[in-house]
Amino acid sequence: MSVTRSVVLGSGSYLPKRVLTNAELAAQVATSDEWIVQRTGIRQRHIAADGELTMDMGLAAAKAALDHAGIDAQSIDLIVLATSTPDNTFPATAVSIQAALGIHHGAAFDLQAVCSGFVFGLATVDGMLRTGGFKRALVIGAEAFSRILDWNDRTTCVLFGDGAGALVLEAQQQPGTREDRGILTSHLRSDGRHKSKLYVDGGVSSTGTVGHLRMEGREVFKFAVAAITDVIEDAFRATGYTAQDIDWFVPHQANKRIIDGAAHKLGIAPEKVVSTVDLHGNTSAASIPLAISVAVQDGRIKRGDLVLLEAMGGGFTWGAALVRW
Ligand code: ACO
Repeated sequence: MSVTRSVVLGSGSYLPKRVLTNAELAAQVATSDEWIVQRTGIRQRHIAADGELTMDMGLAAAKAALDHAGIDAQSIDLIVLATSTPDNTFPATAVSIQAALGIHHGAAFDLQAVCSGFVFGLATVDGMLRTGGFKRALVIGAEAFSRILDWNDRTTCVLFGDGAGALVLEAQQQPGTREDRGILTSHLRSDGRHKSKLYVDGGVSSTGTVGHLRMEGREVFKFAVAAITDVIEDAFRATGYTAQDIDWFVPHQANKRIIDGAAHKLGIAPEKVVSTVDLHGNTSAASIPLAISVAVQDGRIKRGDLVLLEAMGGGFTWGAALVRW
């Protein structure tokens, strides 16, 4: 029996020009290239220019994804932007992107699940496409994390970067078999008891300021691998697929040790892991579509491949999705 699936038509990404190396950071705070690489795998990150907004980065990624898909922006009727660093408290940054693309129909909104935002966005869009209310969607992850970092805090400022990535998805009828293209399953979790372990110490209703990112890194680390593997096991149970069936594992790019730990625990071969954390740092909701874009462009992810996505972030929030490209 045929089923409606959200099928990926194209991907795109954008990185700001400015590259900030570990060596440059070591000149500002008490850290070293060796410490950062050993603990995180990060060698550099991109930083948005003065006046370069989340909207600008998200728009560039969206345009690249539309070009890659070979479709006109006018055929998009849904835009979901995952971000924790919007341009304004309101309206949603997604409507700025919608307007800049010249789209005056359909719906656009922001979604906030910190580093899990892209997986939450994919799951949300999948539901909206499958109900038949929308036909073609852009899911974008765009972040200007450099604006919420405390550049004097070496425990956090070395970890994050700016950038954006996007996917174009379309509701398509698929045969309803294991070989279907599209999002095959998605699983989302959150547990607000961990809120104080990774948060921003400002906000609209609390301080009236933007605030800075604060994190108990070791606590996040301890939680991450167990949470990630748990939700991926749910995705495997729901589809009957196993780690051996996966062609590509595209995790949220927070820390090489977390990525390697999760892949090892799940039995995913290291050569199937797409890792960009060394060059991008942690770009929060943008990290997965940025990594996808790299692996699509260099020919790794191809039509028909089974791709496993996962993320974990502030909240805590975490989630996984299995997608047949
Ligand atoms: N340079 C040099 N030394 C440092 C730095 C630094 N940049 N940062 C911390 N240190 C020091 C600490 O002060 C500490 O010193 P001490 O032993 O004298 O007290 C020592 O290094 C060890 O610190 P730990 O925090 O225990 O180091 P750890 O091995 O846990 O690594 C890290 C820290 C990299 C933050 C790790 O815990 C981690 O990656 N955690 C997960 C973070 C993460 O993924 N966050 C993003 C989640 S996604 C989101 O939603 C935004």
